[in-house]
Amino acid sequence: MKDERTIDRKLEIVGLRKAYTPKVVPVKNISLSVGAGEFLTLLGPSGCGKSTILRLIAGLEQPTSGQVLINGRDVSRLGPGDRNIAMVFQSYALYPHMTVCENIASGMKLRKTPAGEIQQRIQEVSDFLGLDELMERKPGQLSGGQRQRVAVARTLVRRPDVFLLDEPLSNLDALLREHVRAELKQLFGSQNAPVVYVTHDQTEAMTLSTKVAVLNNGHLQQLDTPEQI
Ligand SMILES: Nc1ncnc2c1ncn2[C@@H]1O[C@H](COP(=O)(O)OP(=O)(O)OP(=O)(O)O)[C@@H](O)[C@H]1O
Ligand SMILES: [Mg+2]
Repeated sequence: MKDERTIDRKLEIVGLRKAYTPKVVPVKNISLSVGAGEFLTLLGPSGCGKSTILRLIAGLEQPTSGQVLINGRDVSRLGPGDRNIAMVFQSYALYPHMTVCENIASGMKLRKTPAGEIQQRIQEVSDFLGLDELMERKPGQLSGGQRQRVAVARTLVRRPDVFLLDEPLSNLDALLREHVRAELKQLFGSQNAPVVYVTHDQTEAMTLSTKVAVLNNGHLQQLDTPEQI
């Protein structure tokens, strides 16, 4: 069996369209692909369909037409639990009654990862993100930046096929934002899985991405490197 770290991971979306009603069509015929080691940012104004695209990739919404492929397999009809995807939401969505350690383990427990392996992966990620001293705290006892780091840790330990991040820095103040941005770039750059990142902040898009997709009114207006854009 191939080691899961060496799989050639890839995300493709083909002719994706989502119509909530005949008049509300936030995603209109979008096609793009993101490979391992690539960091794609969806950039565009509020309401242009960024979160809807992420939700379609994650399986939280069904497309009206078009496909989502992960590692070459059509997952369009699969539910979110069958797509090995990890998503960071804007609100972090940590469980308030669980400790940091339990929060990080929650996704792996759902997937019935063996206990020994859970412990080992948590150790790795907490070393990496400097969370050791916070493990027994609850989210209410953390700063915004620490919470954000826990939310990222929870997605990293999952070793998903695709990472989806929906404006994960929007709750942080400017200084912390810059710091965590640099951290994210380094972290996800070494993950060997495609990353799709949503923001309406141009600086963020330019500094983090290997590719930027500019969206407008549900259409893909431009897809290029940050330098070209
Ligand atoms: N469940 C829904 N039913 C009907 N319309 C929806 C639904 N979800 C989103 N929309 C509409 O689809 C459009 C795109 O929404 P989406 O959340 O994808 O925008 P966004 O680009 O993420 O915006 P923001 O930057 O404000 O988060 C909006 O006009 C929104 O009102
Ligand atoms: Mg959104």
